[in-house]
Amino acid sequence: MSQTIQTIPVRTKPEYSAAIGEGLLDRCGQRLREVLEPCRAAVITDSNVGPLYLERTRASLEGAGFAVSAFSFPAGEGSKNLGTLGEALEFLARERLTRTDLVVALGGGVTGDMAGLAAALYLRGIRYVQLPTSLLAAVDSSVGGKTAVDLSAGKNLAGAFLQPSAVLCDVTCLATLPPLFFADGMAEVIKTGVLVGEELFSLLEPGPLTPESGLLPRIIARCISYKAGVVERDEKEQGERKLLNLGHTVGHAIEKVSGFSIPHGHAVAAGTAIIARAAEALGWTGEPVAGRIIPCLEQNGLPADTAFSPEELAEAALGDKKRAGDAITLVVPEKIGRCAMRTVPVGELLPVIRAGMGR
Ligand code: GLY
Repeated sequence: MSQTIQTIPVRTKPEYSAAIGEGLLDRCGQRLREVLEPCRAAVITDSNVGPLYLERTRASLEGAGFAVSAFSFPAGEGSKNLGTLGEALEFLARERLTRTDLVVALGGGVTGDMAGLAAALYLRGIRYVQLPTSLLAAVDSSVGGKTAVDLSAGKNLAGAFLQPSAVLCDVTCLATLPPLFFADGMAEVIKTGVLVGEELFSLLEPGPLTPESGLLPRIIARCISYKAGVVERDEKEQGERKLLNLGHTVGHAIEKVSGFSIPHGHAVAAGTAIIARAAEALGWTGEPVAGRIIPCLEQNGLPADTAFSPEELAEAALGDKKRAGDAITLVVPEKIGRCAMRTVPVGELLPVIRAGMGR
């Protein structure tokens, strides 16, 4: 097993680091002891990830002196709600965690978002760490301190910003991901490639990326270092961080209209393709972008369109966080490596979505 670990600083206040490499799960206790005193560690995980990785995580944490308890909830976006959050908070209280203790988010994006919000709310905020086991969590949601649950009106509508104390991404966990989940993470990788530019996007174009690819740790590290830079400059999403929402306005609408049966990454992929086509059709791009983004999505098993109508999507998008009053900010890919924010009246959203549909 290669022992190469890449460590990326995230210079928020307080600063923390994201480590990427093999074997980090079995060494998580030791790695966390480098930044934390031994304390109670409440692991929050789900019914898919717990059976695979909870006991190894527990063994490593206990070996390093942490007193471990665990809370598991049914896997899936359907659990990312106030009910599960309430159960997690009651669990932390039953376990008598104090302000010097720790929440450990072990899993994918749903677990990280929900466990992070539990940590942000419990006792008005205790520390947490992220152990992402999905590609989506590794490249996006585990870094940057966004935590949230969904409300019936839409995605991530109840949340808080709280940076984790550490992120440990063991890339060997990605090998057990079902293809659909790996593809889901690829949507955020491709999104980041469009934002970063040729340096990253050209690595993604030649063919589908697989969990076995030797390029994967480098690609994950590049996605995280890009995101870390954005978050350092704009932690609370007042400006530049909004760019990370490329594909998400329509993506969140697709998730919502599907009753969350379409996974986040698949919805974001379709959302990215739709805004890329729309941008070209409306003359907002400096060069053709859809012709590069769409094949890249499709070769990774991701959709570039949706069967929902523009009317349904525009209606659903009106509940999105990115709406401010009667305007909504869209992230528009102008070329690979350059995206711009464009604020349009909500009434213009429907024609934009119509212009971007592939049918
Ligand atoms: N997932 C986008 C962000 O963290 O800002």
